[in-house]
Amino acid sequence: MSLVVLISGRGSNMRALVEAGLPVSAVISNRADAAGLTYAAGQGIATHVVAHSDFASRELFDAALAAQIDQYAPRVVALAGFMRILTPAFVARYAHRLVNIHPSLLPAFTGLDTHARALAAGVCVHGCTVHLVTAALDHGPIIAQAAVAVRRDDTPERLAERVLVQEHRIFPQAVRWLLESRVRVQDEQVHVRDANVSAQALCVPDVE
Ligand code: GRF
Repeated sequence: MSLVVLISGRGSNMRALVEAGLPVSAVISNRADAAGLTYAAGQGIATHVVAHSDFASRELFDAALAAQIDQYAPRVVALAGFMRILTPAFVARYAHRLVNIHPSLLPAFTGLDTHARALAAGVCVHGCTVHLVTAALDHGPIIAQAAVAVRRDDTPERLAERVLVQEHRIFPQAVRWLLESRVRVQDEQVHVRDANVSAQALCVPDVE
């Protein structure tokens, strides 16, 4: 029941997974300078760099990345701030066990700069989403969301800070459900088997 985490930078969501006691067997980055690698190595976790810049195409990069991941035969692959678009072949290889954390209430604000875009749109509720990854960018069955109230004087940075607190709460929980095979997808909708979910005040589409 192992977990491989992919990062590109700071790695605070990866850290939240580790601190939650989840069985992270390796952390892989597409950038050698990702700060999160230092933290992971300090925790005695295996780290690897598969640099996208070393490969001539997305397909070749994804194949090398998959080869590295598969060394660990993980039950779940978690994208924790992994800033690369993945090929359909890669996504299909890890179907139902590839999970992403995105800093918006999907399907609103897919892509980048979500906090600035949420402020520009004048929304009063923003947040984050954990979802299974499908070939369509930032789409895929939603496992959990958390909402944050937008304040009149928010900047993208202040809003990001409050959303990040929620990311660190819902990501480990959703990954744990996947590791424990509690997540079932039917007609693109997620159903979670967990009697305690309401006590954790998380927003999940359906609890069985
Ligand atoms: C997070 O906001 C995550 O939702 C997004 O990228 C950011 C990564 O932050 N996908 P960190 O590297 O986990 O600190």
